[in-house]
Order: sequence, then structure tokens, then C-alpha cells
Amino acid sequence: MAETVTKTAEAGAPKTGTRETVTVTDNRTGQAIEVPIENGTIKAMDLRKLKTGPEDFGLMTYDPAFMNTASTKSTITFIDGDKGILEYRGYPIAQLAEKCSYLEVAYLVLNGELPTKEQYKEFSGEVTVHTMVHENIKNLMKGFRYDAHPMGMLCSTFGALSTFYPEAKAVRDPDARKREIIRMIAKIPTLAAFAYRHSIGFPFVYPDNELSYTGNFLSMMYRTAEPKYKPNPVLEKALEVLFILHADHEQNCSTNAMRAIGSSEADPYSSAAGAISALYGPLHGGANEAVLRMLAAIGSKAKVPAFVKDVKESGGEVKLMGFGHRVYKNYDPRAKVIKEMADKVFEVTGKNPLLEIALELEKIALSDEYFVKRKLYPNVDFYSGLIYQAMKFPVDMFPVLFAIPRMSGWLAQWQELMIDKDQKIARPRQVYLGKRNRDYVPFEKRG
Ligand code: ACO
Repeated sequence: MAETVTKTAEAGAPKTGTRETVTVTDNRTGQAIEVPIENGTIKAMDLRKLKTGPEDFGLMTYDPAFMNTASTKSTITFIDGDKGILEYRGYPIAQLAEKCSYLEVAYLVLNGELPTKEQYKEFSGEVTVHTMVHENIKNLMKGFRYDAHPMGMLCSTFGALSTFYPEAKAVRDPDARKREIIRMIAKIPTLAAFAYRHSIGFPFVYPDNELSYTGNFLSMMYRTAEPKYKPNPVLEKALEVLFILHADHEQNCSTNAMRAIGSSEADPYSSAAGAISALYGPLHGGANEAVLRMLAAIGSKAKVPAFVKDVKESGGEVKLMGFGHRVYKNYDPRAKVIKEMADKVFEVTGKNPLLEIALELEKIALSDEYFVKRKLYPNVDFYSGLIYQAMKFPVDMFPVLFAIPRMSGWLAQWQELMIDKDQKIARPRQVYLGKRNRDYVPFEKRG
């Protein structure tokens, strides 16, 4: 089984005549233990039985950055990084992107099945009527500096929503969870658009219930004096597709943050504020912003070879942003869908001048031994930024555009955590290598 595959039940299916166990011999003591294998994994806790004596705590695993540790069983998203497969609840991402609306996919991710017509009507209706936020949130937004990064504003105001909905603390109550899930999916585009409007000094635009999820978001972003905002259908659809591609991605950094915070039974707004913070980083959701800054800094197609040379000679210091992925070691199937969609968007918006540089960068990197050997391919962020920029979203808004749809994935994962009997408060162990048993030294005797 390749390392970059989500472990499945089949991965652990017993072959006739074989025992689904692994025997581990501790060469310090000669003690051997037989450990069951389930779904292609062993339980780290089983290794605790290996001790050098009664005082020994027992053997632990050391796995910084969870490179080979499954933190949960899940039925939401399947990834095969070697084959470039991504499925939500078993449906291939390309099919969902082509045929569904974002809210249909959000329902699927949250509930496990595609909605019937009635279920869809009810779900999208509920989301639509919960898009408003308390007026005090506006005042909170106005308190930020004019140049505040919208992701910082989103993260803080989203966390602040927990104070408006104290009933969200009932995280063990399925009905309360359902109510907050609807609210959170409904309100995140409103907060995102308010953050943008604040940054350009424009008045906030209230939600328009007659528009689709993405159409309403575009209206809250761009509406000026016209009585009714009419989104361009190509751009509205493109945003739906981008939102679908970003809805979930199993146990990534921000989802892990959502689950870790949620495991303490914090309310979901506080957990999501943590997830948004994790997504902000340039190695995660901030990468699409970093790609655009990188392309702008390169400046022209002619300078691409020199930049690639810099990356290779920097010893890991300079990265080709939008390339590489912890899981995808072949290609990122989301990048493929986005690249195909880009042309349709550019027909409406005109070509992004940075596209030429991006295509050249991709061409050179894909044939360069450095990148090929390390299995570095374009990820979802490599092209999404070019589309967002062509749609007139400022670069600062890119990670925000990632956070909006990822809310459904975070909430699906949080819900799964809440009903998972195997889970407890997340609390990793450490290997302590510091000093011990020292006596206090007064100031005059130090140094
Ligand atoms: N450019 C140049 N070299 C790279 C890149 C890159 N983008 N990514 C990895 N490498 C190199 C590393 O320096 C390392 O080289 P070495 O073996 O000589 O030391 C090797 O490839 C392996 O890289 P790791 O850092 O071990 O890979 P890891 O799985 O830990 O990191 C990550 C994955 C964080 C995505 C990394 O590829 C990266 O920083 N990419 C750029 C940022 C980016 O695009 N992030 C978005 C990810 S998608 C998302 O979050 C939605």
C-alpha cells in the first residue's frame, strides 16, 4: 500500500490463511508482542506494552507532522495521492465539479448522500435565510485598520460569532449542531465580503436572498449603486466550481486544527476560528496568495529560468509556491479541473497577464529533474489565484475564498469527531530532551 493513500477498509482485508497481525520484537529485552492490524494500521497504544522494566513508561511512536499517523477513521473524503484521486463520500471530484452546485456538495459532505430535490430545497433555503449577521458585527469590523488583512478580520469576527450564539456550546446535541452548521455555512460569505468592503472603504452590502450562494457572495462583494446586482453566470459558475474543489481535503492542517480544538468541546465558532488561522499560513491556504506574489515578483516569462535556478540552488529556502503537496505525488486532480476552467473565465474577464509566466514556470518545472525527482506538481493553488485575480478579487482575499467553502468540510469533520466513540481530547505526547532536577539559582549567582 502506497504511503500517500487514505487507508481504506480494503487495505486491511485479511488474505486467506494469513494472520492480520504484526509481531514486534523488542531487541532491548527480547520481548515480542503480536499486534492486530486493522484497516492497514496498528494502534500506537499497543506498542506501550513494550517496556524495559516496571519503571519504563512503554514504547511510544515519534511522528512529527503526523507523517505516518492516522488520527481518525473517516468516511468523508478519500485521496489516493499517487493516482491523483480525490472523492467526497465516494464521488469523484471532477464529476461533482461539473454537475453540482456548491450547496449540493456541502450537503453531501455533511450528510454522506447527495440531497433529494426536497432536501436540497430545504437545505439551501435554510442557508439562505441565515446569511445575515448581527449589526454589532459590523461595528466590530469597522474597528479594524483600513489595511487590515481580510483573513485576520475573518478569523477574529468568526470567533466573535460564538459570543452571539452561546447556545452553540451544546456540542453534544445533534439538533444544536445542525443549527450551528447551517448558520456557519450561511454567514461566512457575509463576513468575508464585509471584510473586503471595509478594506476599500465601501459600505457593507446586505445579503440578497434571491441569488445563489455564490451569486449572493459576488453581490455582497461588488454591488455599488445598482438596485439589483446581476452576477455574470460564467463567473458565478466558476466560483461554484472553485468552492466545490475546496470543500474538504481530509486531515489537512486546518482540519486537524478544527478537530483538535473541537476535541476540547469548544463551540464550533471558536474551533472554526482556529481552523481559519491554520488556513492563513502560506504553506496551506495562504499559498494561492503567495503564488500570485511570486508570479508578480518574477515579472516576465524571460525571467522564469533564473527563478527556477534560484529555487533549486536555495537548499529549500526559496520555494516554487503552488507546487508540491504532502499527499499528491502525481498530480492534484483539483489543479486539473481549475486549469480546464480557466479558459472559460478568461473569455469573460480577459487573460490574466501573469498566466504566461505561470505556464512557462509549469513547463520548465515539470521537465526539470529537481522537481520530477521530488514529485513536485502544481497543486490547487497554482491556478486558482490567477482565476481569482481575473475575477477582480484582490490578492489578500484569496485565502478568504478558500475558507468560505472549506467551512462545510471543517464542519463535516467536526461533526464526525463529535459522534466518534474512539475520540477523546487531542493530546499528543512528547519526547522530553531537556534538563531535569535543577535547583533554583538566585539572580546574583547566575551567568
Ligand atoms: N518548491 C521547491 N522545492 C520544494 C517545494 C516547492 N514548492 N515543495 C517541496 N520542495 C522540496 C523540499 O525542499 C524537499 O527537498 P529536499 O528533499 O531536497 O529537502 C522536498 O521537496 C520534499 O519536500 P517536503 O517539504 O518534505 O514536503 P512536505 O510534504 O513536507 O511539504 C508542502 C508539502 C508544504 C505543500 C510543500 O511542497 C510546499 O511548501 N509547497 C509550497 C507551498 C504550497 O503550494 N502550499 C499549498 C499546498 S496545497 C494546500 O494547502 C491547499
